[in-house]
Amino acid sequence: MALKLSERGDVSPFLVMEVMRAAAEREATGKDVLHLEVGQPGFPAPRGARLAAAKALETETLGYTNALGQPDLRSKICAHYRDQYTMDIDESRIAVTTGSSAGFLLAFLACFAPGDRVALADPSYPCYRNILKAVGVEAVAIPVDASTAFQPTPEALAGLGPLDGVVVASPGNPTGSMFAPGELGRLADWCHTAGIRLISDEIYHGLTYGQDGETAAGSPSAIVVNSFSKYFAMTGWRIGWAILPEDLCKPIERLAQNLFISPPAISQIAAAAAFDCHEELQGYRDVYAANRLDLLDALSARGLTPAAPPDGAFYIYVDTSPVANDSPSFCTSLLNETGVAATSGLDFDPIRGSQSARFSFCASRADVQEAAKRIKAWRR
Ligand SMILES: Cc1ncc(COP(=O)(O)O)c(C=O)c1O
Repeated sequence: MALKLSERGDVSPFLVMEVMRAAAEREATGKDVLHLEVGQPGFPAPRGARLAAAKALETETLGYTNALGQPDLRSKICAHYRDQYTMDIDESRIAVTTGSSAGFLLAFLACFAPGDRVALADPSYPCYRNILKAVGVEAVAIPVDASTAFQPTPEALAGLGPLDGVVVASPGNPTGSMFAPGELGRLADWCHTAGIRLISDEIYHGLTYGQDGETAAGSPSAIVVNSFSKYFAMTGWRIGWAILPEDLCKPIERLAQNLFISPPAISQIAAAAAFDCHEELQGYRDVYAANRLDLLDALSARGLTPAAPPDGAFYIYVDTSPVANDSPSFCTSLLNETGVAATSGLDFDPIRGSQSARFSFCASRADVQEAAKRIKAWRR
């Protein structure tokens, strides 16, 4: 007899995995692939972080730590807010997490009950929607468009009926677009007054190509989620952090103790050292900045214009409708005919995503230059 399965596991698969499978099949036949579908830096963790980890392997026990992280890493995170945002955050409000992914799970569990309604922009990072579904919370789509750089506004939220929370990201994935200056603050104030929990994903801060990202850490009720995965190029170390409003520190500590015991000890040591590697990390950012210009140039030569201003992160989200019937067939033809892998927008927006595709430019300079050359030469 088949045993009962929970509907919690019935979340959408990540479609980019399909592109990655097709790319691997192509590689297995001896053809090359330029991986513009993946959203992770083509660089390792900065050298100072790797050296600190290597030393700790020799000298430290590396057991469990405090559930919300080692004091020295928490104090480095506070120093980062003083340096980057001239903001004083009490160390007790920092939770070190197993990547921002664990930060989202902890935040959603601590803030929302099954049946609650939490709004997110369409398109947005698919795991928000899928984690919310796994914990029984309804994800409510916010219809956003180019007029607000694909970012939500209080006016758009006001039309969605009763809400318990909203998740935003600036810069966002897949668009790379950002709130106009002051707009995140306006949204945070509006959410606070309306009793709606704002969760601000700031994972792409540090990777911007014009204005800097603004933080929601000054709001008395917002949760800020961040990570060492992107700017710090430490995806596989599974380490991130959240800034919590005071009333959530204890509930989240209890959940973290029970769900994870602690974030990985070695990654905490490496992460603390990564804060001293800004010069190297700025070098990574400079590579993304040059890649971005090459890719924008190549895409526009093919009539593929960004659907949203790609002001941050390492993505360009284009409208594929001028050159293809739908984005999955666009991505398949592009891969088969040029060896360039990109991601269909359907991962990020189940409806309008069929006309969009995401190109990532965090691969090496040589790979992105070659991809740009092939896209320019692509005859459709
Ligand atoms: C917008 C956004 N938030 C969160 C994550 C998850 O990152 P991690 O769990 O590695 O911190 C990603 C990963 O691609 C992302 O793009």
